[in-house]
Amino acid sequence: MSRSILLPLLADGEFRSGQDLADALGVSRTAVWKQIRRIAADSGLEVESVRGRGYRIPGGVDLLDATAIHDGLNARARELLAELLLLDSIDSTNVELMRRAQAGVARGTVCSAEQQTAGRGRRGRHWVSPYAGNVYLSLLWEFDQGAAALEGLSLAVGVAVAQALRACGVPDVRLKWPNDILHGGAKLGGILMEMTGDAAGACQVVVGLGINVAMPAGAAGDIDQAWTDLRGACGEAAPGRSALLAALLNELLPLLADFHRDGFAAWQQRWMSLDAHADAPVVLETGASRLAGTARGVDERGALQLETGAGVQSVYGGEISLRAAT
Ligand code: BTN
Repeated sequence: MSRSILLPLLADGEFRSGQDLADALGVSRTAVWKQIRRIAADSGLEVESVRGRGYRIPGGVDLLDATAIHDGLNARARELLAELLLLDSIDSTNVELMRRAQAGVARGTVCSAEQQTAGRGRRGRHWVSPYAGNVYLSLLWEFDQGAAALEGLSLAVGVAVAQALRACGVPDVRLKWPNDILHGGAKLGGILMEMTGDAAGACQVVVGLGINVAMPAGAAGDIDQAWTDLRGACGEAAPGRSALLAALLNELLPLLADFHRDGFAAWQQRWMSLDAHADAPVVLETGASRLAGTARGVDERGALQLETGAGVQSVYGGEISLRAAT
């Protein structure tokens, strides 16, 4: 019996007796008890056990629901979605799609998981990915025109994510160049794009997105920067993970399908209107080097426009990080 079979029976947060669970699953009460212990140990979820009442997950758990996600898709997203993989646990949804890309899987394949055991962030960082806490989403697309045609794509993804969040009732999302999604000045999510194939010809791109929805207190200790989650930003009005996932696919699949035609120029003004650091003093950090200036938005290729005493220079992405000057 896997936990993805048992957990839905406890997802609503109500008590269910061991016998009730055993009957529903066609196993013994001992098997249920062993699985409950394993769930608590592996997922970090709290499963309460009370004599005479049974088991419950206090507060319930918001599991990904394939039907709800499909129901939330608009006609264009349905047409563009090749396959939706909803996994219980995986090292990284990005890595999984990179593996599948190498095995020849089609564009429009999407992967999400309840948990990542080796979630990847930018600049070699670990992405904290607790069970059923947040959204971990990767999309695979193929481009025929090589890496040059992808300029600015990850910035356009940020705009699409802000649009999806707005559609879910989360206003005031801002973007931090190049790939951070902010709310109230703290990091709500991030984007990691990875590529395989021919940099000058047909290449496959995996767009990975992490959005903090309800970060368990125990998991947050590993995060080394100011962060927030949708529960903190919106309280009870925070969207559920399945509704959010559908809204994200409604924005991201059309973006990926049309980007070869429109490029970043079609997104530049929208990116500028969401820029968290517009005309603010900033410091750019690349490894040990630091460059101070004023952020003046981005150009039509997605390069940051940094104004220093020497004039305005274009800064391209990569291993660069931007901070507000203190
Ligand atoms: C960042 O450092 O800001 C980027 C974080 C990207 C995290 C997402 S979660 C889904 C996908 N799978 C990964 O391993 N990373 C990305």
